[in-house]
Amino acid sequence: MGVGADDLDAWSIFATDLLGLQAVRPNADLLHLRMDGRVYRIAVERGRPGALHYLGLEVASPRELAELASALRARGIEVTEESTELCAMRHVSSMISVLDPCGNRLEFFVGHDEATAPFVSPTGATFVTGDMGLGHAVLLVDDAKAFLDFYVDLLGFRLSDILTPVPGIDAYFLHCNPRHHTIAAAAMPGMTPSLQHIMLQVDSIDTVGRAYDKAQRDGIRMGMSLGKHTNDHMISFYCHAPSGLEIEYGCNGRRIDEATWVVGHYTSGSMWGHHRPSVPA
Ligand code: FE2
Repeated sequence: MGVGADDLDAWSIFATDLLGLQAVRPNADLLHLRMDGRVYRIAVERGRPGALHYLGLEVASPRELAELASALRARGIEVTEESTELCAMRHVSSMISVLDPCGNRLEFFVGHDEATAPFVSPTGATFVTGDMGLGHAVLLVDDAKAFLDFYVDLLGFRLSDILTPVPGIDAYFLHCNPRHHTIAAAAMPGMTPSLQHIMLQVDSIDTVGRAYDKAQRDGIRMGMSLGKHTNDHMISFYCHAPSGLEIEYGCNGRRIDEATWVVGHYTSGSMWGHHRPSVPA
């Protein structure tokens, strides 16, 4: 994925020292963050702070990418075959792009480069990626039906469950691999579409706990305290990256077994914790 920021140096320090990501700086306007063997998973680009520049979705083969392009075009979606120059910048072998109903840019690609240098986390973190990608992204959308028509009916994401924290707001959690959700959306008419948060998963509660301590010690702006989610069972906390992007950092998320999964409904997002910081009156 690619996100915007105005202070890439601050982002780099936050990403490495707190999150345990490995920073690579291809140029002054671009920060690549590694989580595993891939050349990068998150690109922080100079731009509007917190803006979603693109979500990258990996397709299994060139043939399936071509079939996806045909299926999208058949439904009247404008599909762009991206240039070799942009593919080289993204470190992929081929790529198409579309805009979702909210105008979010989605890049479907095949062949994401593996780095030759090993991934080394500055904090000793091990990220849970592999067959589940970098984590998840939660969007704010103004039209639930348009979101579900596009992501479920057209792209083939499957509904994991629905959360109704308060009457009138529904959040839809979608999966495309064993991760409980890769993309989710909180829908409310009149909402300004945006990226609400992203989630990175590590393999140890100790890594989460140490990051939580450090965030509080360093006065990082918190989004929500340590807690456990009802639906994906993630034990996590939320904090704000420089430039405003909210990041959920967690562990122990459960995997979906497609053969037995039953769509659930929740009225609370958390079993415990996940309290928002009290705002002074
Ligand atoms: Fe999340």
